[in-house]
Amino acid sequence: MRTVRLRSGQAVPQLGLGTWRLGERSRDRAGEVAAVRFALDIGYRLIDTAEMYGDGGAEEVVGAALRDAIEAGDLVREDVTIVSKVVPSNASRRGTLAACERSLKRLGVDAIDIYLLHWRGSQPLGDTVAAFEELRERGKIAHWGVSNFDVADLEQLHALDAGGQCTVNQVYYSASERGIEFDLLPWQRKRQMPIIAYCPIDQGALAADATFATIGRRRSATAAQVALAWVMRHPDAIAIPKASNEVHLQENLRAASIKLDAAELAAIDAHFTPPKRKRQLAMT
Ligand SMILES: NC(=O)c1ccc[n+]([C@@H]2O[C@H](COP(=O)([O-])OP(=O)(O)OC[C@H]3O[C@@H](n4cnc5c(N)ncnc54)[C@H](OP(=O)(O)O)[C@@H]3O)[C@@H](O)[C@H]2O)c1
Repeated sequence: MRTVRLRSGQAVPQLGLGTWRLGERSRDRAGEVAAVRFALDIGYRLIDTAEMYGDGGAEEVVGAALRDAIEAGDLVREDVTIVSKVVPSNASRRGTLAACERSLKRLGVDAIDIYLLHWRGSQPLGDTVAAFEELRERGKIAHWGVSNFDVADLEQLHALDAGGQCTVNQVYYSASERGIEFDLLPWQRKRQMPIIAYCPIDQGALAADATFATIGRRRSATAAQVALAWVMRHPDAIAIPKASNEVHLQENLRAASIKLDAAELAAIDAHFTPPKRKRQLAMT
């Protein structure tokens, strides 16, 4: 598995597993735990979740699968990078500390590897950062970052004491939503701040895209794999496709070994035009 290096020097997998829409219905719980367990079995080592997903249910699903894998002796906690997020309405200083404790409990772990502010809300950013720093000092999180922050938000963040400790920004990034290439990606690159690309298959839509399918056919790959390889052509972009289907989980993991050539990238650019001016940050 290719890795992305964080500013701290730590290497994290370039491809992880998304968990949005897991943990929403109790009747689906066993199947979802089995899917995450299967993902761990075949080699996924980064999982993205959030307190918001399934109102804590997704973190419980991840926790159950992780516990099972550890108890079976298939891996140790340190093998897996866990990303989770606090919702803005909880992101006051005390609220963030309490939300993190609840997430740790649901995940069944002592620490979260990368803890993010899910999007910018009305709580003062300085209070959230102070809480993140306290959590880091107490060993409850290893790194912190943000999500859905555009350049202006990141500049305000960086102006704060400890704002420079922000490790990653998780944003919508796929061939069909590539506005960040104009300004956000270069801004982050200058500061060695990788992106975590969410919706890298555009919520499944790119799996049916004709341009990606044509490139894929020549390589015995699927359109979804090419869409993921396209995101991962950036050495500082981590892709977190969500998949519950075992075939999809396997396919997506293998996408990390595809390197697109110049002609293939040009064909993709012809279909999904690179941004020539500032575009509003896409969000789901
Ligand atoms: N920070 C934020 O605000 C934010 C917002 C949105 C998402 N996220 C995170 O990013 C993750 C990924 O985003 P997403 O789930 O919205 O979209 P996505 O990963 O682009 O697409 C997921 C959809 O694609 C399908 N799929 C996956 N692999 C496939 C394959 N190889 N072939 C065909 N279809 C495939 C999945 O189906 P199956 O499930 O049937 O396999 C699912 O319907 C989320 O799960 C979440 O962890 C974060």
